[in-house]
Amino acid sequence: MHASGALQVEELDALDPGGGLTPEIADKMVENAIGVTALPFGIATNFTVNGKDYLVPMVVEESSVIAAASNGARIVRAAGGFLAQAQGRLMIGQVQIVECPDLAAAERALLQASERLLEEANDAQPGMLARGGGAREISVRRVAYSGTDRTDLVLHLYVDTRDAMGANTVNAMTEAIAPSVERIAGGRALLRILSNYTDRCLARAACDIPPGLLATNALSGASVRDRIVAAGRFAEADVYRAVTHNKGVMNGIDAVLLATGNDWRAIEAAAHAHACRAGRYTALTRWAVGAHGHLHGEIELPMPVGTVGGSIGVNPAVRTALGLLRVETAGELAQVCVAVGLAQNLAALRALVSEGIQRGHMALHARSVALAAGAAPELADTLAAEMAAQGEIGLRAARHLLARRV
Ligand code: MEV
Repeated sequence: MHASGALQVEELDALDPGGGLTPEIADKMVENAIGVTALPFGIATNFTVNGKDYLVPMVVEESSVIAAASNGARIVRAAGGFLAQAQGRLMIGQVQIVECPDLAAAERALLQASERLLEEANDAQPGMLARGGGAREISVRRVAYSGTDRTDLVLHLYVDTRDAMGANTVNAMTEAIAPSVERIAGGRALLRILSNYTDRCLARAACDIPPGLLATNALSGASVRDRIVAAGRFAEADVYRAVTHNKGVMNGIDAVLLATGNDWRAIEAAAHAHACRAGRYTALTRWAVGAHGHLHGEIELPMPVGTVGGSIGVNPAVRTALGLLRVETAGELAQVCVAVGLAQNLAALRALVSEGIQRGHMALHARSVALAAGAAPELADTLAAEMAAQGEIGLRAARHLLARRV
């Protein structure tokens, strides 16, 4: 599948600096807008997820991210592709209840009034109900504060927001039910806001790779497999490595989130909370030797993406990105996102455990270096090749080569 065939001309126009987000639209999206800024919009190739092929739009400033994702996906595609699933799509709204005189009685009363509270929440957002979504469940938690004898109750409202990320819907619902919650619990509702730790909206992806597909010029596939497993264990055990490991995972995911107009800060925050769910920060992926000696990789993350709502319908380049992806639901987009994270991680680990990432990275980064040194874009490839040939990639070398041309 080629990007040129996958996009209409007008969709491509939306990727021109002047054709996408105009300053006029930007001014309606945020406050005090004085213009728009641009980032490269690229396409990662080779993705097969649950048997379907995808061209994946990525918006990112860092060289080699798109190449690495495509490279990881190419290996997995040869092994049959990623298997992915989106588990549930319930967002969470929180109502914090302070000054509750009898916690146990309040808990009981709130749970008994669940149906009524759900109805009230849905009455406040009839549009969501009409789209087949709506408030589905209520739970009540206790939050104790160390060093004090204070305990608050927190009501969680679980909302199916369909294909929207649904922050405004959830926030509006929590505000709508807060007066009833106060009456029922006998306390005071303080915060009424969604939780970005969306652990009822998880997505998972997995891959199984015969070792032969992992071989490099210098290393056998089995050796690369074992080294990737060892690198994965290192990230599971050591927070300093885990943060870098997860940064690499998020390189790919954030780029898709940006391209598709999603709230990447929310998903970043949720990802790192999820990485701590056992009480200690650890890797977001797992690598192990699986059946038949295959390399088995897994990822699991909260992935509350949307394909409608928010700024998604406003930015023409986002519409182009979604057109390119051809996902039918937000859950499908979530599956692609986690597969991208796993592909990104695979490619990074394979490079790190073999020749290291610097050679490949600098070869791709050299073009940016050439531009930063003042080269015209049409000269960037030539200058990059010259720097690579002389074994020095950097601003000094680029400036020197440029000076020789005049
Ligand atoms: C660079 O942006 C990302 C990596 O550092 C990730 C990793 O170390 O796993 C290559």
